[in-house]
Amino acid sequence: RIRAVALTLAAALTLGTLAGCGGTSTAEDREIIRIGHNQSTNHPTHIALVAFEEFIESKLGDKYDVEVFPSELLGSQNEMVQLTQTGAINFCVASNSLLETFSQNYTLFNLPYLFASSTAYHASMDDENITGPIFESTKQAGFEAVTWLDAGTRNFYTVDKPIETPADLRGLKIRVQQSPTNVQMMNLLGGSATPMGFGDVYTALQSKIIDGAENNEMALTDNGHGDVCKYYSYDMHQMIPDILIGNIAFLDSLSEEERDIFEEGFDLVNQVQREEWVTAVEKAKERAANEQGVQFIYPDTKPFQEACAPMHEAMLEQYPDLAPIYDAIQAYNEQYPSDS
Ligand code: GCU
Repeated sequence: RIRAVALTLAAALTLGTLAGCGGTSTAEDREIIRIGHNQSTNHPTHIALVAFEEFIESKLGDKYDVEVFPSELLGSQNEMVQLTQTGAINFCVASNSLLETFSQNYTLFNLPYLFASSTAYHASMDDENITGPIFESTKQAGFEAVTWLDAGTRNFYTVDKPIETPADLRGLKIRVQQSPTNVQMMNLLGGSATPMGFGDVYTALQSKIIDGAENNEMALTDNGHGDVCKYYSYDMHQMIPDILIGNIAFLDSLSEEERDIFEEGFDLVNQVQREEWVTAVEKAKERAANEQGVQFIYPDTKPFQEACAPMHEAMLEQYPDLAPIYDAIQAYNEQYPSDS
């Protein structure tokens, strides 16, 4: 039912835009800026976007009314990316995983074991020489990435089978994000990839359509997956950022002065979110262990990494233009081989 409401709302937004009245509030004559995401209102991403709302309205409040829509209210991530493409909404947060189907350049950040440590990951994502060519590559598709958000490290978790080695994944149906890279990774690790949207995972786990999933620790608590899954294994297979994307026509409609203020706002989203992230993950882990009875497992990550290694070479062969960016990431990996 919630999905049906979301779709109706999404359709109404689209019609509003087509009719030429979308975006302008007749009552106050302020332009509404709609931002959608799929997390709860407790999540660091929501807290950061509310900080953005307050910042933009404190600077440009006579012109813009920023509204943040959490919890897939505007649709699944895939649907929200499409709404952002057409301009029915202005911004949304999408996992980098999904974006590879809109521009192949995004494939790079989805590679398993791309970053040697979270320090190397953060340094890479903060380096515009690395992100710039990727973030701008969806302009022709109608949107641009304006900043990145931390989504931690992705690990496997299952209803009732502890994962200690890749062999333990054999025969298990594991939910993955809807991206070719993630399906391929799951196949190499020996599990059976079951792609679906984030909002459908809880029910799929509960009804045993799947045996497990993979995500950061927040999924256990904030999305309730830890109520069903009792084993969480730190195989550390991916650090996939979330990306705040904006509709190009909207971004281009901003004056130079407004754009500068928005850029400051995008930086604020990144800063607030990553500060909140650290404590949110610690709290999630504690709650999962103490209140949900989730057991945390620390397997040797090497066999998982070895199984996925062919994906690096294959990607470089398929997308040679990405080689310089890949090498720049390797330089950060050498500089920060582990988190001390
Ligand atoms: C994380 C990530 C989301 C993503 C989700 C998923 O929660 O932050 O952007 O949608 O994983 O697995 O789909």
